[in-house]
Amino acid sequence: MNLMDKIRENAQRLNKCIVLPEGTEERTLKAADQILAEKIARLILIGNPDEIYQLSNKYNLSNIEKARIIDPKANPEQDKYATMLYEIRKSKGLSYDEAVKLSQDPLYLGTLLIKAGEADGEVAGAMNSTGNVLRPAFQIVKTLPGISVVSGAFIMLLKPNPYVEGNILVLADCAVHPDPTAAELAEIAVSTYYTARNIAKIEPKIAMLSFSTKGSAKHALVDKVVEATRIAKEKAPWLDIDGELQADAAIVEAVGASKAPGSKIAGKANVLVFPGLETGNIAYKLIQRLAGAEAIGPVLQGMAAPINDLSRGCSVSDIVNLVAITANQSE
Ligand code: ACO
Repeated sequence: MNLMDKIRENAQRLNKCIVLPEGTEERTLKAADQILAEKIARLILIGNPDEIYQLSNKYNLSNIEKARIIDPKANPEQDKYATMLYEIRKSKGLSYDEAVKLSQDPLYLGTLLIKAGEADGEVAGAMNSTGNVLRPAFQIVKTLPGISVVSGAFIMLLKPNPYVEGNILVLADCAVHPDPTAAELAEIAVSTYYTARNIAKIEPKIAMLSFSTKGSAKHALVDKVVEATRIAKEKAPWLDIDGELQADAAIVEAVGASKAPGSKIAGKANVLVFPGLETGNIAYKLIQRLAGAEAIGPVLQGMAAPINDLSRGCSVSDIVNLVAITANQSE
């Protein structure tokens, strides 16, 4: 059974409730139909019910009636969500009137449903930017205890290759936080450990990447990765982690042995933590295209409840997979 099949099967067992705020979007509706047919999750669709039913007739989707549908513009419980949002954000200057308006926004309503305990997670982004999906999540759901920064990992399913055992590599941060401090980078390493173990089902061996291996170059950017590695070890002494390592020293045994002798990670890494979003985002796209790897994600990590962001170019099966991953994260 491949990794995605295992994730879908576990989602069926968990029977979680996932909210899809883009309920009238074609790929989202088609994915919802499949998710409900295969019992991967229970669903809340946000959107105008007439429009949703009209579209599901048009696309011949017979399972949509099993979803709970909430109309964001005619929601009998709107006051409850507006008040909840106002209470959460009034210290940041949000007025009650603004809260009423925002609680009609499907992306805000989605996260409010999670906060109210009515949904376990959310998947959106088929027609909204990453920033618009993440902002309400950051403001309302917030981060896990001990974590201040949300980041995004990719699980790369590689073609058979001599470098990575099991051909699964987990990369982070590839999606969210542009310029992490050393302390934030350490948090990203800890969050990625859990994604690698719980979602990618690998025993994480974490390399903190840089353009230097064990002092081969001197630069403030190298110092940041050395410091991040130190903080991560202090915060989570159980981690198998080492840095700073160059990418070849991290994954190629012979290079690791010569550049970082004695390292338990060099040459064996299966989790790569990048020094910043620029490198992480560029690297995952290059591995995906040039090495023909399947990229699963971004799996957002560090949030108090799982919320995941789709690419606007996503397919129906990308949405189904991300809902299954989100259900797994909420376990
Ligand atoms: N983790 C946790 N909370 C965060 C984070 C984070 N990484 N970033 C911002 N926040 C919080 C802030 O603390 C703030 O909270 P507060 O209002 O309660 O004080 C709130 O979110 C808004 O913060 P801003 O600094 O105003 O953040 P902004 O909304 O401008 O930006 C965003 C956040 C949109 C995620 C930004 O960092 C961003 O654009 N990142 C890049 C996303 C991207 O484009 N990725 C590449 C594409 S994805 C792909 O290719 C797969």
